[in-house]
Formats: sequence, structure tokens, C-alpha cells
Amino acid sequence: MNQTVDQTPRVPVHVSIIMDGNGRWARERGLERVKGHFEGVKSVRACTEAAVEAGVKYLSLFAFSEENWNRPAQEVSSLMGLMMKSIAEECATLMENGVRFRVIGNFERLSPTLREAIAGLEEKTRDNSRMTLVIFLSYSGKWDILQAAKALAADYSSNPSGLEELSLEDFDKYLSTAGIPDPDLLIRTSGELRISNFLLWQAAYTEFIFSDVLWPDFGKERFREALAEYARRDRRYGKVK
Ligand code: FPP
Repeated sequence: MNQTVDQTPRVPVHVSIIMDGNGRWARERGLERVKGHFEGVKSVRACTEAAVEAGVKYLSLFAFSEENWNRPAQEVSSLMGLMMKSIAEECATLMENGVRFRVIGNFERLSPTLREAIAGLEEKTRDNSRMTLVIFLSYSGKWDILQAAKALAADYSSNPSGLEELSLEDFDKYLSTAGIPDPDLLIRTSGELRISNFLLWQAAYTEFIFSDVLWPDFGKERFREALAEYARRDRRYGKVK
């Protein structure tokens, strides 16, 4: 008798990436750090393509942390310029591939020009439904939890007894990631083994893959390998099978 084998590939719904190692990639070649960021954009493109092809629904990228504002002014301004340039250049590709674009973070420190460009691309791509590309910009996990707590406190100030009923799902709605499923898989490149104030609340049961490869070298093949490794993981969420 033929046994039915479930061959459905276990594709993660949401893959998140801490793109690390651009600076080292550039230094190893005797180049300025910003060259590494420019090269990193190629990996962003490759992984976005690979994610769409694999059927991933959300790809999120940690592009700039709140702590990154403390980098040399020239590097900060290059990164912001790179963001502007990418927004202008990638619009057509995102539309062709049915990708919705979203940016999440503390926008207070972003220039009005960049904010406008972001809002424009978010609006243009809002009806695309094949995949959502989320860029975390000026983001930190602690900032997110704090802003959620503040908004929640304001909402409940006239009804403190309502807090008794507050669920985890209710709290989720105050996070800047509301409506986006928690990441199934988080990849960090460049051999660093930490979360660096990224998705602290949302990564409670995320599978982690740490790769020694520097972000500009990561590309499509490594991304596919990470998906294959994820498919072999046994997710138990603290339970026993
Ligand atoms: C970490 O490498 C990388 C960043 C802080 C920036 C990532 C940005 C990009 C890849 C380009 C812009 C992104 C988009 C979405 C268009 P690092 O500088 O910390 O490297 P190091 O640890 O080797 O110094």
C-alpha cells in the first residue's frame, strides 16, 4: 500500500534578516565602509527575489538601528542616501513582482524628504499581495516595546481596570509590527551571535540561523540554504510532541 507522504515544503511565512558585515566586507578589500553597504544592496535584491520565488509572505530586513545613529555622520548620511536611491530605483521591480513595501521604525529622526519618499513607495505598492518587504529603519526592539507601553497607558488611563483583561494579542496590536506575523526564521550574517535590540518581543519563538558569511556575500544561494535548514527544524513552542 502506498503511504501518503506530506511533501509540502515547510516554507516560513516571515523571514527576518540582520544584515551584518558590510563594513568588514569593505575593509577586507581595502575599501571604505560605505562601499560595503552599496554592495549589500545587491544581496537585498537577491534575497528579495529568492523569498518571492520560495513563497515567503514577509521578508523583513534590519537596515538601520536606533543605535546606528551614533555612527560617524558621513556613514549615516551615506546610508540614508542609499535608502533614498534604493526607493527610487527599486519601485518598478517591486511592482513587477507584486511586492508591497513597508518601513517600520522611529521616524522622528528621519529627514522629511526620506519620509515622503517612503510614504510614496508604501502608497504605490499597497495593493501588491505576493509578498511584503518590511524595512526596519531607525528601529530598536526596546523602543518598540516602550512606545507600545506608552500608547497602551494612554488608552487605559481612564479605564485602568480594563488592564485586568489585557491579553498578549491585545499588546501585539500596540507594537509597530501590528498585523505582521512574528518571524518564523531570523537570519544573522557575519558570525555575530546576538540579537542587537532587534525584534525582542516578536522573536519569542523564532528559529535562528547564524551564518559566518558577510552580508554582501550572502546572496540567493545562501538564502535558499537557510530556508532548507529551517524546513528541517522541529518547532515545539515549549511543548512536547
Ligand atoms: C551592518 O553592517 C549593516 C548595516 C548597518 C546597514 C545595512 C544596510 C544595507 C545593506 C543597505 C540598505 C538597505 C536597503 C534595504 C536598501 P556593518 O556596517 O555593521 O558591518 P560591520 O559589522 O562589518 O562593521
